[in-house]
Amino acid sequence: MIPAPTAAPVLQPEQLSFLFEARAASAVLAACLDLGVFDRLDKGPVDPVTLARDCGIREETAPALLSALTSLGLAETDQRGGFVGVTADLKWFLELLRRYDSFTDGLRHRPEVSVDAPPGADVAFGRTVGPLASVCKPAIGEATKQLTGSGARVLDLGAGAAPWSLALAEADPQVTVTAVDLPAVLPVTRQAVAAAGREGQFHLVENDIFRVALDDDAFDLVILGNICHLFDESTNRRLLRRVANWVAPSGTVAIIDFVPNERRDGPRLVTLFGAELVGRVPSGQLYPFSSYAGWLRESGFERIDRTELSANPPITLVRARLA
Ligand SMILES: C[S@@+](CC[C@H](N)C(=O)[O-])C[C@H]1O[C@@H](n2cnc3c(N)ncnc32)[C@H](O)[C@@H]1O
Repeated sequence: MIPAPTAAPVLQPEQLSFLFEARAASAVLAACLDLGVFDRLDKGPVDPVTLARDCGIREETAPALLSALTSLGLAETDQRGGFVGVTADLKWFLELLRRYDSFTDGLRHRPEVSVDAPPGADVAFGRTVGPLASVCKPAIGEATKQLTGSGARVLDLGAGAAPWSLALAEADPQVTVTAVDLPAVLPVTRQAVAAAGREGQFHLVENDIFRVALDDDAFDLVILGNICHLFDESTNRRLLRRVANWVAPSGTVAIIDFVPNERRDGPRLVTLFGAELVGRVPSGQLYPFSSYAGWLRESGFERIDRTELSANPPITLVRARLA
């Protein structure tokens, strides 16, 4: 017998609605990725009958599937009543969602890492740092406001598509950026810098941040954008000790990341991201502010504070200065 709902449900209607919508959206995206629907939309306008034929789905399901994609803003109707993919960027963005293909597997099995790979290395970053920078866009304005004025010599460690340092370089032509990343990603950094026309302000360094030799006291601002979550605690301590050597007296370190609350039960997007991260990155995890504050203090940083850069996505700046 199916139990009747209790008089006082523990789950609130908004929660139920969110969970239902989240699961439904996720199922639609997963099916479209599996069936090659996005690839088909990418080739040009398609009507439901053609989509059904090309993607091997039942003809009567295709209109509803296309309607669902349209409601997610991923397709729209064209003048002839067919459907088109909304943006050429979509396939590129889906690379980030592909991570979820191995979500369950990641919970079961620890990913294999080559013993001589640098901590944090993953060739997939070459495909995902661009979409990640786009996801972070709402936080960039506030980050730039907070960090402009920290000094002209900027070091961006694990720069990826360099969203944070590029914005600083654009805001102030005096800023020069040394951007360090691994061979699989540095070409993407180069491309992003060139697309912004900022080559003259950037010095790109292809190296492991745990091995690279940089001058002591050479930087006014060191940015660690979405990188500390790739490392375990002792590796983060080691990294911050290196950073403390590179930061000039009174200089600043800026950790920009997904930072859970101290109970590690929110914000929601942060903890959801954290659950995927631990399955994908062998020593990765999200750290609360108190962890960063402790490591920073140990490395000689003070005046440690935090700023919420954007609510959606919830991205936090943890900033500290060297004495
Ligand atoms: C999650 S991405 C963040 C990219 C960028 N900072 C951002 O906030 O969008 C992490 C970046 O750190 C780089 N990375 C990871 N481990 C590294 C290491 N040991 N040395 C250099 N770069 C590393 C990756 O290649 C990747 O580009």
